[in-house]
Amino acid sequence: MVEIRDFNVADTECVVAIADKQLGEGYITADDFVGKKVIVAEEADENNVVGFCIAYIDSEDGKAYVKTVAVAQEYSGRGIGTALVAKAVDYLKGLGAEQIFSPLWKHDGVVNSDVIFRRNGFVPEREIPDYWLNDSIEKGYSCPVCGKVCHCVCVMYGLKG
Ligand SMILES: CC(C)(COP(=O)(O)OP(=O)(O)OC[C@H]1O[C@@H](n2cnc3c(N)ncnc32)[C@H](O)[C@@H]1OP(=O)(O)O)[C@@H](O)C(=O)NCCC(=O)NCCS
Repeated sequence: MVEIRDFNVADTECVVAIADKQLGEGYITADDFVGKKVIVAEEADENNVVGFCIAYIDSEDGKAYVKTVAVAQEYSGRGIGTALVAKAVDYLKGLGAEQIFSPLWKHDGVVNSDVIFRRNGFVPEREIPDYWLNDSIEKGYSCPVCGKVCHCVCVMYGLKG
């Protein structure tokens, strides 16, 4: 059975491994968890973390974000991604967020996570080219599509309270 729960430090290695595989090597590091709400999905029978999601209020623009969601390939299609986003939304609404945003990765014209965000009430609002360009250069991570310099498009999704 899969349980959705809060992240703890012992989950770091599992979460980073899922992110490296699903989002690009080096995209997420332990620093990305600091000051943010990290929610994980754990296969309780195996004590194995199989997915995660990050939610936070941005200290610069004051907006609420669900930033990243990824589920290990072998566990996809079981509703885990949808449940992680639902929990992240509950958390942000609990902090009083009236609007929640999520920058989603568009690849080959497809937003992989479109379905799981729509199931949680989000709708696409605008496209932003080169959204991860500076980050990819500064952090030196490798985009699964572009490699070292990321030109992927983000579609900003929004959820209104
Ligand atoms: C996208 C992702 C988080 C979905 O997680 P999940 O646990 O499989 O999601 P759910 O089971 O809740 O929902 C599955 C639905 O998502 C859609 N979906 C999943 N992967 C998809 C993909 N690669 N492309 C398009 N749609 C996809 C399907 O429509 C599926 O619906 P169905 O089960 O009715 O067929 C997961 O596949 C993943 O980690 N992908 C790689 C990383 C990624 O793209 N993350 C999003 C970054 S913005």
